[in-house]
Amino acid sequence: MSLVLRNIHKHYGSVRANDGVDLEIAPGELHGLLGENGAGKSTLMKVVSGFIAADSGSIEFDGAPLGVASPRVALEHGIGMLHQDPLVFRPFSVLDNFLLGSAGGVLVDRKGGRSSLAEMAARYGFDFDPDADARSLTVGERQQLEITRLLWRGARVLILDEPTTGISEPQRVKLFAVLRQLAAERLIVIFVSHKLEEVEALCHRVTVMSRGRVVGRRELPTPRHDLVRLMFGDITLGGARPEVTLGDPALSLRGVAARTRGAPLHADLTVRRGEVLGLAGLEGSGQRTFLRLCAGLDPVGSGTIVIGGHDLAGKPYRRFLDAGVHYIPAGRLEEGLIAGLSVAEHFELVGPNRSFMVDRGAADTLAAERIAEFSIKGEAATTAEALSGGNQQRLLMAMAPDHPVLLLMEHPTRGLDLGSAQWVWDRMLRSRAGGTAIVFASSDLEELQRYSDRIAVFYEGRIIAVIPASTATSSSLGLLIGGVVS
Ligand SMILES: Nc1ncnc2c1ncn2[C@@H]1O[C@H](COP(=O)(O)OP(=O)(O)OP(=O)(O)O)[C@@H](O)[C@H]1O
Ligand SMILES: [Mg+2]
Repeated sequence: MSLVLRNIHKHYGSVRANDGVDLEIAPGELHGLLGENGAGKSTLMKVVSGFIAADSGSIEFDGAPLGVASPRVALEHGIGMLHQDPLVFRPFSVLDNFLLGSAGGVLVDRKGGRSSLAEMAARYGFDFDPDADARSLTVGERQQLEITRLLWRGARVLILDEPTTGISEPQRVKLFAVLRQLAAERLIVIFVSHKLEEVEALCHRVTVMSRGRVVGRRELPTPRHDLVRLMFGDITLGGARPEVTLGDPALSLRGVAARTRGAPLHADLTVRRGEVLGLAGLEGSGQRTFLRLCAGLDPVGSGTIVIGGHDLAGKPYRRFLDAGVHYIPAGRLEEGLIAGLSVAEHFELVGPNRSFMVDRGAADTLAAERIAEFSIKGEAATTAEALSGGNQQRLLMAMAPDHPVLLLMEHPTRGLDLGSAQWVWDRMLRSRAGGTAIVFASSDLEELQRYSDRIAVFYEGRIIAVIPASTATSSSLGLLIGGVVS
């Protein structure tokens, strides 16, 4: 019942997403697939589960060759995959989603399905209301439902692509318990991640990918530094942050109150050129509103927002851009990039050439230069949604002006591996050395401490403390984030 992949190739233009991958996994094994952004993990798993066809190579499961061509055929052979992207659910009930794709078409046995769902849920300790609207489920609950569906359809290999993004801590604990149970039942579980600690906590063995190739395999446990080395080569982690002399105020808020329906916000604060201000707080405590106010994207109720010497409160977004404000949102594909447009077309949108006729040749040249300069793994013609998360972030940064007065970033490294995160910060610190003031929101305490000069802590729509990052500890920050002011 082993799963054997041999010499899998999948190329996108000149990008070798999978470049001769071999992998062998035994029944009952919890197998980790690690690798930095763009390493080719999702591509490989989509090949195995029939979502895309490989250019060449072979797959064998349980001794039989698998000419997998579609997810349906793959599942008939016992291979099911849970996707990295949020699962798309139809506006149907939980039960309908569970029955999706089962034999019988419109004549599915709903009564039997209902009892199967209850039976499966009980077996794995899940709790579903079969008649609830599936759209009301949390990401974690949708995931549980999809796992249940795949197992009920007979999956003997369960592939999970970064399943812990967006689920709660109790759901993660539950998920891990279920995956261990499945391995004990002799299933193969493939756990794709770039979170080392999760792979270490869960898996028996791990395969590390880089640039489309397998660069190492290990039995776990193995020392952490060994895995880091395999994933990233010999990069140095977090070099000391260079000192810069702070300049004039870049941003000054006085008595600002937001006029949004979401988190209300009240803020008084000044950030100087060359300064890095980190925004800490639970999600939805006002950090996002703060960034959007400073970017000119949310309406101001009262107060002043002075940027570059002018009060821009209530002024149109264009004035903020002209004042040198640049905002990079967290939702890379929802808010920052345009799905369907290529890398070159993104550069055309922001390029210096604002003439009426778009100069294709010039745009392609610019795109090629920028792709090289920002080490974007993709081509001029690659569409934004086809880039991996890390490469989408690189594209967003490549579209920013070189030295904005004020750079606003929301979760600049969320979902990125260590190498890409380091790259993003190198770029930001270079802008800072040129006099850019940086304001960023993050839920990663280590990132806040490492890169900020000061940290503003948000709680229920207010800044309840502004502390020097050098004196912050995770426990002191943790208390403030929870609203405890001593
Ligand atoms: N449909 C596509 N068209 C063009 N290029 C693609 C496509 N899908 C993936 N790629 C490219 O193939 C490479 C591997 O991407 P893949 O999504 O497999 O990486 P990954 O290891 O899953 O990364 P991440 O950790 O960011 O999810 C990347 O350079 C990506 O840009
Ligand atoms: Mg992926």
